[in-house]
Amino acid sequence: MKQKKSSREAPSPPTPLRHRTGLSRRNFLRLAGLAVAAPTILPARVLGVGDRPPPSERITVGIIGFGMQGRPNTEGFLRQPDCQVVAVCDVDTRHLEAGVKLVNEHYGNSDCKGYKDYRELCARADIDAVMVAVPDHWHALVAIEAARQRKDIYGEKPLARTVAEQQAIVRAVQRYGRIWQTGSWQRSVANFHKAAEIVRNGLIGKVTHVEVGLLAGHIDFAGTKDKTAVTAPPPELDYDFWTGPAQLLPYIEARVHRNWRWHYNTGGGQLLDWVGHHCDIAHWGLDFDSTGPIEVEGTGKFPPKDAVWNTCVAYRITLKYPGDITMVIAGGYPDIRLGTKWIGTDGWVWVNRGAFEASNQDWIEMQRLPEELRKIKLPISTDHIRNFLDSVKSRKPTITPVEVAHNSTIPGHLGLISMLVGRKIKWDHKNQRIVDDRAASELLGRTYRTPWRLT
Ligand SMILES: NC(=O)c1ccc[n+]([C@@H]2O[C@H](COP(=O)([O-])OP(=O)(O)OC[C@H]3O[C@@H](n4cnc5c(N)ncnc54)[C@H](O)[C@@H]3O)[C@@H](O)[C@H]2O)c1
Repeated sequence: MKQKKSSREAPSPPTPLRHRTGLSRRNFLRLAGLAVAAPTILPARVLGVGDRPPPSERITVGIIGFGMQGRPNTEGFLRQPDCQVVAVCDVDTRHLEAGVKLVNEHYGNSDCKGYKDYRELCARADIDAVMVAVPDHWHALVAIEAARQRKDIYGEKPLARTVAEQQAIVRAVQRYGRIWQTGSWQRSVANFHKAAEIVRNGLIGKVTHVEVGLLAGHIDFAGTKDKTAVTAPPPELDYDFWTGPAQLLPYIEARVHRNWRWHYNTGGGQLLDWVGHHCDIAHWGLDFDSTGPIEVEGTGKFPPKDAVWNTCVAYRITLKYPGDITMVIAGGYPDIRLGTKWIGTDGWVWVNRGAFEASNQDWIEMQRLPEELRKIKLPISTDHIRNFLDSVKSRKPTITPVEVAHNSTIPGHLGLISMLVGRKIKWDHKNQRIVDDRAASELLGRTYRTPWRLT
């Protein structure tokens, strides 16, 4: 049936107040050096202009990690009139300077401050929310610190590098009552919403089988594939800080910026890069946002452990879910197409970026499911960052809260663990543990490099 072209992963397209900092409009004026009582003529940048509310009513945002995905995310925040980006943090001064420059040029001032240490940025009481786009091995520590400092968080997928880290993030976000949005932005795109609602409303009957196709191999995002020699790190990069809780390996340019995802010390390869997108959509359609698989069995093709890029280049994972549903997550197997396909007793639906196919021609032609068929209505978001900011104001959950991010990514983590131990594993979702398999259970977490600790 009819379809449009799909795309491989690229940085996402993420395209209103003072509520808790105590910085009232009155105090803001005083801090800005403006007499509160006097009938001063205030400049537009203080009062707000057009659809832009005054600064005291904007959501203040700190950016943590200004690399490949940090930039489009930051641009998305800059586009929002009720938001003010006030700080950027990065451990590489080249990236840090680029981020601060982008923000200051956008606002036409020099107010945005740069930080090398995310803890200093998070300690700022005047920051409401943070956007975190650091490599996966850093997700947990940064997110937990941000939550502890009462920031709302827009955090990138996958939720974290290990299951234990993900569980720690979920606990911290819940404990401190923070709003969380995951960078699984496909939930804010109409064709994914339509596909998930068709499945959720039973239009394909009872779902029996789901196929989740992800990318395989490695992509040289940084153009550093051949820079495999051990060298000194560039002076602009604090490589020790960049490594953080991971193992401190000799500096090799090919496995740092952007390409860190191809080494298990810092990333999880294509499987974990993508599972938070297409498995997230699969779960959404299945109403599995709060559940997980029962059994997981995976096989994969791995480069040698000491290869510069050692993440598996092809994988096939079979998962059993409650309700007799089988899911296959695969990368590098042509029978499983990139995207998400649900197969039911009465039909099927396949969705990918810019593409949609189904057993029923009517579903292909409609933009969204017509109201009369929407007995179960999934929330509608058309802009992932907007959805986050609206939740920051309303204190209602975003379209991809932290628990969802955790559950959407679990199949990838368990699949990898199953491949590494070379056998089927059983998952006890309720108690969040692998059943009767010590070696596999040990892979749910990892040892942190001193002095970093997962709390
Ligand atoms: N949602 C999407 O579509 C999408 C697409 C690409 C990447 N991502 C995710 O975004 C995140 C970042 O990926 P990327 O490709 O931008 O990586 P990247 O290497 O290009 O950028 C990461 C940046 O974080 C900085 N950094 C590292 N440790 C830091 C720390 N402790 N504090 C502050 N800055 C630190 C690095 O110097 C770098 O500038 C990953 O989690 C990735 O999975 C999401």
